[in-house]
Amino acid sequence: MGVTKPFDAQRMQVRRVRFRFPDGLRGIWNPKRPEFSHLVNAGSLAMPYLEPYLIETMRQALARTDDPSLISEIDLYIGQEATHFRQHQQFNKRLAEMGYKSVPRLESVLKADYRAFARQKSFAFNLAYAEGFEAMALAIGHMLIDDRAHLFGDGDAAVASLILWHFVEEIEHKCATYDVFKALDGRYRWRIWGLIAATAHIMTRTRQGYRALMIEDGMWRDWRSRLALYALLLRIFVQLAPRFLRILMPGYDPRQVADPAWARSWWARYGETGPEFAMLDMRHIAGTEPVASEVVA
Ligand SMILES: [Fe+2]
Ligand SMILES: [Fe+2]
Repeated sequence: MGVTKPFDAQRMQVRRVRFRFPDGLRGIWNPKRPEFSHLVNAGSLAMPYLEPYLIETMRQALARTDDPSLISEIDLYIGQEATHFRQHQQFNKRLAEMGYKSVPRLESVLKADYRAFARQKSFAFNLAYAEGFEAMALAIGHMLIDDRAHLFGDGDAAVASLILWHFVEEIEHKCATYDVFKALDGRYRWRIWGLIAATAHIMTRTRQGYRALMIEDGMWRDWRSRLALYALLLRIFVQLAPRFLRILMPGYDPRQVADPAWARSWWARYGETGPEFAMLDMRHIAGTEPVASEVVA
C-alpha cells in the first residue's frame, strides 16, 4: 500500500486569515435561518477540541512514515487545521460572551471526549476517525458551497466567510488523511468504522449543542422553529446521502470527487488578492464566483 499519486503541494497552502466579527453579532447570525445559525454554532464549538485531536493523530502518523510527499502533505494539513480551530476559538468566545450559558458545559463535554479518544483509543481508531471525519467534512463542504445562497444569504458576512473559508480548505486537503490512512493502514472495514464513529459522534454532540442553544433562545418549544429545523435537516440529509454512499464504496478515493468551481475560484482569487479576500461580500454569495468585501478585514 502506498500513495498512488503525489498530492498537489503547489496548490495547497496555509492561509493566515483572521475574521473580525461585528460588535452587534448575535447567536442567530442569519435571521432568515435561525436553526441553521445554531447548527453552525454547535458545530463550531467542537472545532477547538476536534481539530487539535486530528493534529495529534497526524503527528503520530508523521513518526510512522519517511515518505517525503506524505510528510509535506501532513505538515500542510496540520497547518490548515491549526488555523481553523484558532478562528473558531475566537467565534466561540463571542458566543459565550453573548450570554449563552450552555457554551462552557458543551465545551467541557467535547474536551473530555477528545481527550479520552487521544488517551484511550488505539492509533488505528484515531486514524480511522480522522479519515472518517475528513470524508464527512468533504461531503459537508460540497453541500455548503452548493447551497450557499439558501444557507448563508442575508447572514452575517464574517460568520459566513469563516465557515466557507474553513470548508474551502477542507475540500483542498481532502486527500491528506486518506493518503495517510492508505499508507499506514488501508483496511476497508476500519475506514468504514471510522466514518460511522466520527459521524455518529459529531452528530450526537452537534444535536446536543443546537438543542441547548435553541432552548436558551426559546426556540426549542416553538413548533414553527421545530418544523423549520426538521425541514433543514431533511434538506441537508438529501444532499449528503449520495455523497455518503460514495464514501462507503470500497474503491472510494477523494481524488475522484471533483472540486466545486466556486472553491477553485476562491483559491485563485485568494492567490491574487491575499488574506483580505477571505471576507466575502454577501451581496454576491449566489454568484458563480466568490467576491470579496470592499472593507478590508
Ligand atoms: Fe478544519
Ligand atoms: Fe480537515
